[in-house]
Amino acid sequence: MLKKIKVEELVLGMYFAGFDDAAWMNHPFWKNKFLIKNPSELKQAHASGIAHCWIDTAKGKDVQQAQEDGEVAEEEPQAAPPEAPMPQLDPALMDAQALRENAKKATQAMFAEIRMGKVLDMDRCVSVVEEIASSVMQSPNALMSVVRLKLADEYTYLHSVAVCALMVALGRTLGMDETACREAGLGGFLHDIGKAFIPHEILNKPGKLTEEEFTIVRKHPELGYKYLSQDPNVPDYARDVCLHHHEKIDGNGYPEGQRGGTISLYARMAAICDVYDALTSERPYKRGWDPAEAISAMASWTGHFDRAMFLAFVKTLGIYPVGSIVKLESGRSGFVIRQNAKDLTRPVLKVFRYNDSMEVSDTEILDLLATPDADTIVARGGEEWARVSHLDSLQLLSTRTPS
Ligand SMILES: [Fe+2]
Ligand SMILES: [Fe+2]
Repeated sequence: MLKKIKVEELVLGMYFAGFDDAAWMNHPFWKNKFLIKNPSELKQAHASGIAHCWIDTAKGKDVQQAQEDGEVAEEEPQAAPPEAPMPQLDPALMDAQALRENAKKATQAMFAEIRMGKVLDMDRCVSVVEEIASSVMQSPNALMSVVRLKLADEYTYLHSVAVCALMVALGRTLGMDETACREAGLGGFLHDIGKAFIPHEILNKPGKLTEEEFTIVRKHPELGYKYLSQDPNVPDYARDVCLHHHEKIDGNGYPEGQRGGTISLYARMAAICDVYDALTSERPYKRGWDPAEAISAMASWTGHFDRAMFLAFVKTLGIYPVGSIVKLESGRSGFVIRQNAKDLTRPVLKVFRYNDSMEVSDTEILDLLATPDADTIVARGGEEWARVSHLDSLQLLSTRTPS
């Protein structure tokens, strides 16, 4: 059985089944699934700088078993053979990965300080948003790829980072200037700040919320707005996004039931980015949706989003966003690694087959626009996604994702 653990928990005797991170892709372990017998392999994994990986507990030790056996993750090898040199990772992804961790820590600290009753450190928020915006403007895919994969306990913090990044990217598509993109990004970064006032047990409940709990959660826009209103340094537009990101175009949103154009531009953007990131993220009670499934579902909802803005969002990410899995006419599967701006129905894929043991074979890069007769997408993720989604962080991005 596959299980996601922290890389630092890896010990000898575990069966390594891949890293759960975009940064694995040029890593020496990426194509291997193997029983960790060699201390140098263990040391190399610990030194990878990658946060999480998968183990197969049917083929090797589980975490609990390792602890019972007295295995210590940090165990030093006694006579380790010389280490293989670490290969160079894709610089854009390395930067994005480092930024992901920094931004997560900054957001975590911000939520902790708010819970302790402290004033928001606006300078810090602005500098985090600056970094996120610069990253998105330089290489739009990189940061969005690395923030899509979140563990359940990272959700609250990385969701803020993801919505910030999506807002900046959407702002660019909408033709906003850099200042406006950064403003939208700050709005996205602070949109759920009110969740700092919602009890942890409710926010991270591993199941469906009761009606009563849901009522409490729905207070977060107003709680956030109230908190931000105490600080004269917080711009009005950021408070507005915080208060109105759950409004719907047809007036059926909350807290004020604003409708249509009365909802501000940034709040309409936030509504789309917020829902997309929530759908595609893994939570304690659900798997993350395939990105293309999320786009398709959101497109079918009427009255929720500003239609023109949603189309701009699709233009930003594609009909099949990077990371989506598709079924091809040939029977093979495809993992979307790049968009073709000229035709969003024909992305560039890493094509593959997999067997019952989830071993991938027959991989090739296929540009559906350059070679339209080579194959055709016949279905989106769906069932396919549920079966093979964990592979996206194991084997499917073995080619660098162009940003
Ligand atoms: Fe929210
Ligand atoms: Fe949110």
